[in-house]
Amino acid sequence: MVTTSESLSISVATPSDLQAIEPAWWRLLHHQQGLDYRGSERELKTQINSERVRRFLDSRVRQGRLLIARFEGELVGLCTFSPDGFILDAPIQVWEIADVWVEPHARRRGFATAMVRECEHECRMRGADEVRLTVYALNDEALGLYQSLGYDVTSYTLSRNVGSEN
Ligand SMILES: CC(C)(COP(=O)(O)OP(=O)(O)OC[C@H]1O[C@@H](n2cnc3c(N)ncnc32)[C@H](O)[C@@H]1OP(=O)(O)O)[C@@H](O)C(=O)NCCC(=O)NCCS
Repeated sequence: MVTTSESLSISVATPSDLQAIEPAWWRLLHHQQGLDYRGSERELKTQINSERVRRFLDSRVRQGRLLIARFEGELVGLCTFSPDGFILDAPIQVWEIADVWVEPHARRRGFATAMVRECEHECRMRGADEVRLTVYALNDEALGLYQSLGYDVTSYTLSRNVGSEN
């Protein structure tokens, strides 16, 4: 566990944290839905999806690839990290950071900065030479965060609606 100040602690999550992590992850999803609409909360929060989310978070925790930030004991943030899906054996190892979330009432106090830095450290400890992440183009707060942390833009994701074509 890394304690960055008297009241803030950043640690690799354990199974006992899952109960607090799950609703926080859904709040992150709700936020991201404003940037990438894939259905209403009612449409998405089905039993099958809830089970998928639980399995996803559980596996990240068991792999030791989910960090949480607690302030005075309360869970205020989370993020995950994992190797990217590059299938070739390569001299440069790339890991990805994702699911970065800080509770609205805890923002602009440097918590995401501390979490992402710790995430980078965890990736490095597991052999990463480089970390990458994806941000929606309209997510100004996240772009501001990653810019302040020294991240560069290296790719664009393009999309086109084909659902209404026959
Ligand atoms: C993006 C997010 C994680 C930032 O968390 P945070 O704890 O407030 O970030 P920090 O306090 O570490 O901010 C560090 C820097 O990032 C930038 N930043 C943070 N929030 C910003 C905002 N709303 N607008 C512009 N820049 C912002 C600033 O440069 C800030 O430094 P400053 O406060 O000294 O100006 C948080 O707003 C969040 O959870 N948003 C919703 C989920 C999300 O978008 N996650 C990212 C997915 S890729």
